Amino acid sequence: MRNLFLISSLLIIGLLHPVELLSIPISEGTVDEIDPSIKEDAYLTTPELLKKYGYPAEVHSMVTADGYILEMHRIPRPGAIPVYLQHGLMDSSGGWVIMGPHSAFAYYLYDHGYDVWMGNCRGTRYSRNHTHLSLRSKEYWDFTFHEMGTNDLPTMIDYVIENTGFKKIHYVGHSQGTTAFFVMCILRPGYCDKVITMQALAPVAHMEHTQSPLIKVIAPMTDFAESVTKLLGIYEFLPNSHIMRLAGQVLCHDEAVTQVVCTNIIFLVMGYNSEQLNTTMLPAILGHVPAGTSSKQFIHYGQIVNAKGRFRMYDYGIVKNLVKYGSFKPPSYDLSKVTAPVALHFSKNDWLADTKDVAKLQNELPNIIKEYLVPEPKFNHLDFILAIDSRTLVYDDVIKSMKEYESKLSLN
Ligand SMILES: *[C@@H]1O[C@H](CO)[C@@H](O)[C@H](O)[C@H]1NC(C)=O
Ligand SMILES: *[C@@H]1O[C@H](CO)[C@@H](O)[C@H](O)[C@H]1NC(C)=O
Repeated sequence: MRNLFLISSLLIIGLLHPVELLSIPISEGTVDEIDPSIKEDAYLTTPELLKKYGYPAEVHSMVTADGYILEMHRIPRPGAIPVYLQHGLMDSSGGWVIMGPHSAFAYYLYDHGYDVWMGNCRGTRYSRNHTHLSLRSKEYWDFTFHEMGTNDLPTMIDYVIENTGFKKIHYVGHSQGTTAFFVMCILRPGYCDKVITMQALAPVAHMEHTQSPLIKVIAPMTDFAESVTKLLGIYEFLPNSHIMRLAGQVLCHDEAVTQVVCTNIIFLVMGYNSEQLNTTMLPAILGHVPAGTSSKQFIHYGQIVNAKGRFRMYDYGIVKNLVKYGSFKPPSYDLSKVTAPVALHFSKNDWLADTKDVAKLQNELPNIIKEYLVPEPKFNHLDFILAIDSRTLVYDDVIKSMKEYESKLSLN
């Protein structure tokens, strides 16, 4: 029993702080053979990457109603229709640019004449400040996609609207960026009316059928993980750090025998596909992912996996649930309230947004304008932002859907 406890604790700490457990001798010298430009991309911030590749870049700061200071990154095209891109779990605005101007979505949207705004939710590397809470406090990290949906997204949408003069904007969310959007629509309904279309890439709400073997192993330990994180005071989950960036370079570059470990970890969580991931770019990708979030966020997703098809609020346990919600069980999010026009883009080999769970979402959302199954059977969860052929397989279709809807509306 005691051994089991020790092993599980180590496993959880290992997942929370893998680099400390790896304790591999990391030295800058071993990464000399990486293409210097790819190595540089690992270190540049989103606005720096935009400038490097010849695009205009702006940085904007805003404060949420509950005091979190957020940063948005913009490829400005004043007067053009704004598109707000919202990243997934552990990701940041960096995900929309890291694959470079020939592949990444942010550049493509700008080249198609859009004013591109990229959000960064609380706790990510670009949005780590608060008007009065310290980053070392438990209170700062007391959030999940629920607070992102009720606070971060409305603040960023309002900011874009105020600064562009448009009454409505396009919203593109990947993964957690879709979960938070649904929460926003359900609990801050006025915001559902502020989007022209919501383009959902790899939409995540119900997670009953998630196929990721790693998630399946970890999810039943959710309650235990919650106790351990509390006990050890680990409130922040995988911050973006120099040591991660270096580990990415040492272990994942093209010449490294360990590159297969990097790809297998990604495939284990996201779905297997060796064809659409450009492994040469792994050192750059790992400079930007993980970008940091709260441990509570993972626990909330773990609870949803365990909740047998219910998409519901955080489970604090019977006593605290009664105080918070007035019921023993946490309330479900009512997806029938998502009145915004939603285009769903999903794929067969997505182990996190399984097609059965997406089908259930389709049944509950009242205003679906498009259901698009990516015509590539091995396309996985991360391919929506990283795939070599993401433009022809996904982005062209997203842009087509946005344009179709624009022609139906008067925008300002
Ligand atoms: C964080 O926010 C506070 C309060 O607005 C500000 O004074 C401080 O300079 C900010 N810190 C950083 C590192 O941006
Ligand atoms: C992979 O990335 C490298 C470096 O950016 C690039 O030179 C190469 O063309 C990419 N491969 C594919 C198949 O896109």
